[in-house]
Amino acid sequence: MFKKSILSLTLVFSFSTFALEKPEVMIFATGGTIAGSAQKATDITGYSAGEIAVSTLIEAVPEIADVADVKGIQVANTSSSNISNEILLELGREAKVALNGEAKGVIVTHGTDTAEETAFFLDLVNQTDKPIVVVGAMRPATAISADGPMNLLNAVTLATSDEAKGRGTMIMLNDFIGSAYYTSKTNSTSLDTFKAYDQGFLGTFAGGVPKFYFDAAQATGKPSFDISKIETLPQVDIIYSYLGMQADQLDALVASGSKGIVVAGSGNGSTPQAVRDRIAELQKKGIPVVLSSRTGTGYVTSKEHGIASGTLNPQKARIMLMLGLTKTQDLDELAALFGTDV
Ligand code: SIN
Repeated sequence: MFKKSILSLTLVFSFSTFALEKPEVMIFATGGTIAGSAQKATDITGYSAGEIAVSTLIEAVPEIADVADVKGIQVANTSSSNISNEILLELGREAKVALNGEAKGVIVTHGTDTAEETAFFLDLVNQTDKPIVVVGAMRPATAISADGPMNLLNAVTLATSDEAKGRGTMIMLNDFIGSAYYTSKTNSTSLDTFKAYDQGFLGTFAGGVPKFYFDAAQATGKPSFDISKIETLPQVDIIYSYLGMQADQLDALVASGSKGIVVAGSGNGSTPQAVRDRIAELQKKGIPVVLSSRTGTGYVTSKEHGIASGTLNPQKARIMLMLGLTKTQDLDELAALFGTDV
């Protein structure tokens, strides 16, 4: 898939009206339901994600050309569960090039299932104050009332908005603007799936215009990572805690190459006692273990046998730990990235 993405990077589609100079926006397309296609217009679950090219997605919304001079680059065209660490690195680097150049903003079209992970990664590696907007859809492009076209138009409008500056990476779906740091997918099929239950949305679209609820700000303590010299990200895995969980599952992960583990613990990062004991042993051997929560929301404080994930759910904690391990293996320094070192 990575080879395909490298090749397809050469395919650049440019859409603009030449009458007036418009702000430049770069769209990096990765697939997902927004590029999904089904046999029937009524089929909103039995479809193939990542079928339609970025050029077609843009052409389907001619109104985009009134807002921006848009260039589309096909990085991948796949279901978002196939987005690899290589694609994350590629997106991070390409976004940086675009944002350090003429682009006023960058858009990533993405499957919604893992959009929060890619968006969170991009939030941690974008060192400019220009916006990155991650956008998807819950209904395939072929569906009645497909949500992708309006989401894409909103994303382009958001990426060109002066008010979007300094807000980090955002997720744009269903008219709501969420901070990539805090927003997560919360419903398997509903259009109204992206939420930040504790922190709320940054804003909403009203009459085709972004309306922000707060002045621009970044997530508290958000670290920044320079990936320009990083060729691969370390393997970090997530393990789910449940009644009767066996501690040797952790050993199996380490044997398969894990350099760090995130536990989706019950409640405030809890696991059975035998698992706790094994986590403490692994940490002594240099394998950091982050305790997050399977509850889907809340702040994890447990740190007596691992690193507390704070506000980060397991999938975001994994991204943070992968990037953190490119800088340090020190447990206190890693904990500081989660804001839970004190
Ligand atoms: C995917 O994440 O690739 C499929 C689901 C979606 O985009 O909504």
